[in-house]
Amino acid sequence: MKGVILAGGSGTRLHPLTKVTSKQLLPVYDKPMIYYPLTTLILAGVKHVLVITRPEDAPSFKALLGNGSEFGISISYAEQEKPAGLAQAPLIAEDFLNGEGFCLILGDNFLYGSGLGRKLQNLNSVEGATVFAYKVNDPTQYGVVELDSNGKPISIEEKPKSPKTDLAIPGLYFFDKEIVDICRALKPSPRGELEITDAIKEYMSRGKLSVEVLPIGTAWLDMGSFESLLEAGEFVHIVQARQGVLIGDPITAMRTRNSSK
Ligand code: G1P
Repeated sequence: MKGVILAGGSGTRLHPLTKVTSKQLLPVYDKPMIYYPLTTLILAGVKHVLVITRPEDAPSFKALLGNGSEFGISISYAEQEKPAGLAQAPLIAEDFLNGEGFCLILGDNFLYGSGLGRKLQNLNSVEGATVFAYKVNDPTQYGVVELDSNGKPISIEEKPKSPKTDLAIPGLYFFDKEIVDICRALKPSPRGELEITDAIKEYMSRGKLSVEVLPIGTAWLDMGSFESLLEAGEFVHIVQARQGVLIGDPITAMRTRNSSK
């Protein structure tokens, strides 16, 4: 399966940390931020990864991750000229995707939980789209999904002021090949961006959206603010020190993936 990491954006909420470097290169305890979403993709069974960055950051990402052989995968690169929204990613990735479905992860999303890798591996040939839902205290900063009693999605809103539920949509998405045409037809939102939420809504209106609620005990953090960046670093430190395991380490993830085959 193919995977795309969107590591663009100007990271203004983290200024001055991100004035001269990309957010996704900042340290999260003992690793650069992008190692964490990269590890999630490896655990999901992804073999070919496209990393999308700002043009000025591309040399640093290439120096850090190379062609992926160190991790047992292939990594290629593409550039996002302007931060015009997450739904630009499938359009930028069109050649890389070559008509196949894929898994998209945002470069600042941290996911960790028992059985997550196996759950994700089962999604590698989805028809339609699959997204996740995660209960949070304050959903107003996220895409928010409402489910009916059978777990079917009935509404989705981006950063609602009065959320209908407390189920946020993490930045990890599985799409079939239709995503490219869907994103191409999108119009910019009031904040001037092509919203991934609008693409997901289109799948919902076609009856082709599945939502998987992540179990209590899964950790999902976005690392885009000072607090969440610190919290993610603390989380990694605490679990690693207590259990003697490495979290967000692509090489360890590849060994885990190979041994669970
Ligand atoms: C984006 C998406 C939002 C999603 C979030 C996850 O928000 O638009 O739907 O819940 O990522 O991190 P942004 O980071 O662009 O504010």
